[in-house]
Amino acid sequence: MSEPATPGPTARDDGELIAIDGTDPDWWRQAVVYQVYPRSFADSNGDGLGDIAGVTSRVPYLQRLGVDAIWLSPFYPSALADGGYDVADYRNVDPRLGTLDDFDAMVAAAHDAGIKVIVDIVPNHSSNDHAWFREALAAEPGSAARERYVFRDGLGDDGQIPPSTWQSNFGGSAWTRTTDPDGTPGQWYLHLFAPEQPDFNWANPEIREDFHTTLRFWADRGVDGFRVDVAHALAKDLSEPLRDANPKDFDLPLDGSDPLYDRDEVHEIFSGWRRVFDEYDPPRTAVAEAWVPSARVALYARPTELGQAFNFDLLRADFDAGTFSRIIDDNLRLAAESGASSTWVLSNHDVIRHASRYALPAGADEEDWLMSGGTRPAADETRGLRRARAATLLLLALPGSAYLYQGEELGLREVADLREGDLQDPVWVRSAHTRKGRDGCRVPLPWDTSTPAFGFGPAAPHLPQPAWFADLAVSVQDGAPDSTLELYRAALGARHALQQGEDLRWLDAPGPDAIAFARHDGWVCAMNFGTDPVPAPAGSVVVASGPLTAAGVLPGETTVWVRS
Ligand code: NOJ
Repeated sequence: MSEPATPGPTARDDGELIAIDGTDPDWWRQAVVYQVYPRSFADSNGDGLGDIAGVTSRVPYLQRLGVDAIWLSPFYPSALADGGYDVADYRNVDPRLGTLDDFDAMVAAAHDAGIKVIVDIVPNHSSNDHAWFREALAAEPGSAARERYVFRDGLGDDGQIPPSTWQSNFGGSAWTRTTDPDGTPGQWYLHLFAPEQPDFNWANPEIREDFHTTLRFWADRGVDGFRVDVAHALAKDLSEPLRDANPKDFDLPLDGSDPLYDRDEVHEIFSGWRRVFDEYDPPRTAVAEAWVPSARVALYARPTELGQAFNFDLLRADFDAGTFSRIIDDNLRLAAESGASSTWVLSNHDVIRHASRYALPAGADEEDWLMSGGTRPAADETRGLRRARAATLLLLALPGSAYLYQGEELGLREVADLREGDLQDPVWVRSAHTRKGRDGCRVPLPWDTSTPAFGFGPAAPHLPQPAWFADLAVSVQDGAPDSTLELYRAALGARHALQQGEDLRWLDAPGPDAIAFARHDGWVCAMNFGTDPVPAPAGSVVVASGPLTAAGVLPGETTVWVRS
């Protein structure tokens, strides 16, 4: 199956653009991918929720920003029990967000602007509103309808004890008991996330086939790639008796033996997906979300599987030269070994925005800070933004692809003081109000200070925007030379020339808490993590994350790109 190539990007104003050809099968290897969280991006119809037409309306902005692709978080029909990651119909658009025609128009507009489109696929679980889950609830234990999910009898005399000790990622048991049609308590079903997100049974060939159909459905509509939600959870050991899962610890050296996560059999599933991707010309791409240690992440990224997997190491790292350089080394090596290209991420819709993380004193507990409404410990916002800009400029100089999260190009901070009544994340309720969850990074974007809701849309947004968004709106930063928006534009414009090749050669560190590396053709990136100035690399400055106060000097918490 092949289809007409999408046009290449229109010329950008840096004059040095290396066009990403619409037919280049390797376009993703060095791409800048901008994550759109559709419900919080732009609201075209005034219902307070962002929508697909809103994304289309902002394609010129994205083109001017200089991104190569957008990744849309789920826009499918959903009761929003988990921000859209509870999908009721995998092959449709939520009517509140638009129609399939709107989707096609959005893809066409993005492609015309030279921007690829990646969609989120949520294969571990559906919504409890999915027709298959409704059918399963109405069906008998042991029926084919129940075999699409994971139903089990409870333990104890009356089946009143959950079938295993497995815990939901959002808190509490991973099992919920059903009620039979006659009103008596019935079997239990598995949900590794919210009860509204029942897990599929991936041992069932019908599930595998149906997801192939879904991948083809979107690929046929011109989608260029897929972001695969919780890729490491699909294969489970459901043999009786159900075994206890390992304690949840991201750094645990998983070896494929846990009953729930990162089992070796998961790779057969993704080899099947690769065969679907390769039916297309150019082949469709994918990136795995797999919260497993780096060495195992690389397995998902093999060319015979998804091709890329998120490397979340920098997102979790302290702001420290040694930590960053070790992570860069490790991940470039792993990517080379697996034949993937590395991915770099500092923010997404699941974590506290990096401008806020870097504003906290070393060792601060970020969850506690969020629970205090962003008051304890005190955040140094100026410092947070300075460091965020420096870290981003470093990330953008690395070989591989960079995943940016909407609003980081404005230097947005976490909205840490949302009122309890406004919180939507299931984490808040499921943790018995001990964890606030992820709403603070999902507040609708500020576009324009002269219109309601800072230009997000005509109605009150589904999460309230703080007054300080006025200082960071696009309309304020557009054309302001020192703004974060202009920094991103400058860096993305220059990056196309920088990303010719996947080389990186370390240079002598310019200071005790600084790093520097060379790329091809005289490109050098240096970052000073410390507060004392260090010598700047020789060459003409292409872009710097902050003011360079004196020639030959790289100030504290600043990154510079030079070219000799
Ligand atoms: C990972 C997604 O990024 C997150 O937002 C979601 O809650 C879980 N997967 C469950 O789908």
